[in-house]
Amino acid sequence: MLHKTKYNNLTLCFKESRVPYNEILEDFVHLRLPIRKVFRNKDNTKVMLVQHQEQLYILKVFKPNGKKIERVLKSFFRKDYFLSLIQLNDELWSRGMRFQNDVYLLAQRKQGPYTDLYIMLNEYIPGTVLNEFDVIPEVIKQDLVHNMALLHQHKLISGDAHKGNFILSEHGLRIIDLSGKKFTRRRVAEDRLALESRFNIKEIERDFSYYLLKAKFHLRQKIKSGKHVLAKMFAF
Ligand SMILES: Nc1ncnc2c1ncn2[C@@H]1O[C@H](COP(=O)(O)OP(=O)(O)OP(=O)(O)O)[C@@H](O)[C@H]1O
Ligand SMILES: [Mg+2]
Repeated sequence: MLHKTKYNNLTLCFKESRVPYNEILEDFVHLRLPIRKVFRNKDNTKVMLVQHQEQLYILKVFKPNGKKIERVLKSFFRKDYFLSLIQLNDELWSRGMRFQNDVYLLAQRKQGPYTDLYIMLNEYIPGTVLNEFDVIPEVIKQDLVHNMALLHQHKLISGDAHKGNFILSEHGLRIIDLSGKKFTRRRVAEDRLALESRFNIKEIERDFSYYLLKAKFHLRQKIKSGKHVLAKMFAF
């Protein structure tokens, strides 16, 4: 079950728990939360390992940049991706699904329906991120296919199925960094294509959307190489 409340200029949505997730956020806002490791420090995204009372969490801060007018307009008629994600995750968790990382809290700094800052508190999953493997063993690839199928069965999308978004934990393979975007056949096909091209997995389900996407991909490649040849011909 999710609770909604306000804290200063932030709108909070967090899971019901004995752990006071909103207090962890307050500590972070007041710079009282110890940061143990920084995984990402990009202009618009920070991903940190933080500690609260002996427990480790992943805290993600996202500040959308670029295309502001488009984002503001879309926010009037499209559901917020991050809000969808915490809600979908909460439903899955209550149905006993544990293949994805748990999302504990979402804080949004809103200007009307538009959000210009997101802070997310997530479950920390200790283990080996798949990008640490030189060669991914076949048995892990099978788990990948299985977990992605489960994800799609439950109407969720990865949106970015690369090695940095899978962790081999002591409880098996877990998926992190899911997308809260609307479930569509095209997005499922994109996830499957990512498994094929990034993990060299051949045993994926191929439906009409998959073949359509693949055909578009090849066409784009041909146009690109055609442009390249033309550019070379007229270069002198
Ligand atoms: N729940 C988690 N448990 C353990 N480690 C995590 C977790 N979430 C993130 N990380 C670590 O932080 C890294 C970056 O996190 P995340 O994928 O969420 O950021 P990102 O900016 O979306 O990255 P990308 O765009 O490359 O997918 C991961 O590859 C992983 O090493
Ligand atoms: Mg990621």
